[in-house]
Amino acid sequence: MQPSLACPTWRIGLPVHCRDLQPDYRMWREAGPVQRVEFPDGLRVWAVTRYDDVLALLRADGFTRDWSAAPCPAYGYGVRRHGEDYFAARPSNLFNSDGSEHQRLLRLVAPFFSRRRIDGLQPFIDSVVHDVVGQLPGCQATDLVADFAVPIPLRVIGRLIGIRDGLLPTLADHLHVISGWVDPESEPWRRSMLALHRLTLRIMREPRPDQEQGLTTVLLKALADRGAISRPEISSMIKVLLATGYETTAALLANGALAMIRNPAVRQQLAEGRDIEVCLAELLRWQPPSPWGQVRIALRDLTFAGVHIKAGDLVYPLIAAANRDPARFTEPDCLVPGRREAPHLSFGRGRRRCLGTPLALAVATAALPTLARRLPTVHLSVPAEQLDWHGLMHVRMLQRLPVRRDAPGLADAAGHP
Ligand code: HEM
Repeated sequence: MQPSLACPTWRIGLPVHCRDLQPDYRMWREAGPVQRVEFPDGLRVWAVTRYDDVLALLRADGFTRDWSAAPCPAYGYGVRRHGEDYFAARPSNLFNSDGSEHQRLLRLVAPFFSRRRIDGLQPFIDSVVHDVVGQLPGCQATDLVADFAVPIPLRVIGRLIGIRDGLLPTLADHLHVISGWVDPESEPWRRSMLALHRLTLRIMREPRPDQEQGLTTVLLKALADRGAISRPEISSMIKVLLATGYETTAALLANGALAMIRNPAVRQQLAEGRDIEVCLAELLRWQPPSPWGQVRIALRDLTFAGVHIKAGDLVYPLIAAANRDPARFTEPDCLVPGRREAPHLSFGRGRRRCLGTPLALAVATAALPTLARRLPTVHLSVPAEQLDWHGLMHVRMLQRLPVRRDAPGLADAAGHP
C-alpha cells in the first residue's frame, strides 16, 4: 500500500478479506502519528496510529460523535454514502450522541452492564458455553466460527436484550452483512438494513416472555412511565447494542480459538485456567476485534499530535496500530500470553469506554478455557494463510475456522488479522 504522490493519502485497496492489515498499520505508524487514509468506499479519514496519541484522542475535547452537530461534516458523512454512515443515522443512540443526550441514554442501559448484573447472568453464560462446546463433534471436522464463536455471544446478547431465540439466526445473518465492508448503496446492504429495522420493531412488539427485566422491556417501561426515551431511540439502541456487542465478542472467541490452536503457550494457559485475565488482555491487544474504535469529528480547526485538522474532519483511533506500538510494548508483534505491560486499548478508554467490557470478558472467560479443555489437540484443516477475514473497522474476525482433531501439523504457518 503506497501513499498517492499528489497528496499523502494511504489507500486501503480491496479485497481486504484475505489480507493481513498489520503491515499497513505498522507502515502508517512509522510514517507518523496521524495519517490520512482513504477507505475502499472513498471515505477519507485521519488515522491516529501511536499509543500515547490514541490514548490522548480517546480522552480529547474538541471532537464530537454527533455528525449533525459537526461544523461541516466531511465527505458527505451521514448521508448514507458510506458504510460508516450507518452509525451516524438518526435517531440518537450511544454512538452518534454527545454530552447530556449521551448521558441520558447511557443512564438507561448502564445498569444492564454493571458487574453485579453480569455476575447474575453468569449461570446463563456458563450453561450456554457448556451447551455449545458440548455439541462440538468429538473427533470430526468443525468450523469454530459457526459452531463456537458465533452462537455463544448471540445467545447471551439475545437474553440480555430480551430477544426470542427463533429470531437470533436471521438477526445474525443480517448483522454479518452489515458489518462486512459492502457498499451502503448495494442491494444486500439495503436489504439487511431494512430487515434489521423490521426485526428490531418485532423485538419491541414481542420481547421474550420469560424476561420481565430484559433490556427491551425495561426501556419500553421507561417510555411508558416517564417518556425517558422515545420509541425510535429504543429501536436504535437495540440495533447499536446488537451491532457492537455480538460480533465483536464473536471475534474475540474466534481469534482466541485460532491463537490457542497455533500457540501452545496460549492453549496451555487457557486449559489450566491460569491467569486468564492476563491471557485475554494479550489476545485483545494482539488482535483487537474492533481495530478502528469510533469516529471523532473535529468541532473546529485544531492541531493534534502536530498535524493540522480541519473542522468537520473525521479522526479515528487506530487501536490495532496503537496496541503494537514498540514505544509501549516489547516485541509488539509477538503474542505472549503472560505479557504484563501497558494496558491494551481494545475497549477504548475514558468517558466513551466500551459499555460491554464486563460482558465480553465474562463470556470469553467462560468460553475459551472450556474450549481449550474440550479440544486439547485440535488442528487447522486448511493452511492458516488460506483463512479469510471479515470486516475492516468495527469488527475484524475470521470468516471460518475449519478444524479437525485427527491430522496434526497441517497448518502452522502464520495466520493474520
Ligand atoms: C470483545 C468485545 C468488544 C470489543 C473489543 C469492544 C470494543 C469497543 C470499542 C473499541 C469501542 C469504542 C471506544 C471508542 O472509540 O471510544 C466500544 C464502544 C462501545 N461498546 Fe464495545 N466492544 C466489545 C463488546 C461490547 C459488548 C458485548 C457490548 C454491549 C452489548 C458493547 C457495547 C458498546 C457500546 C454501547 C459502546 C459505545 C460506548 C459509548 O460511546 O458510550 N461492546 N466498544
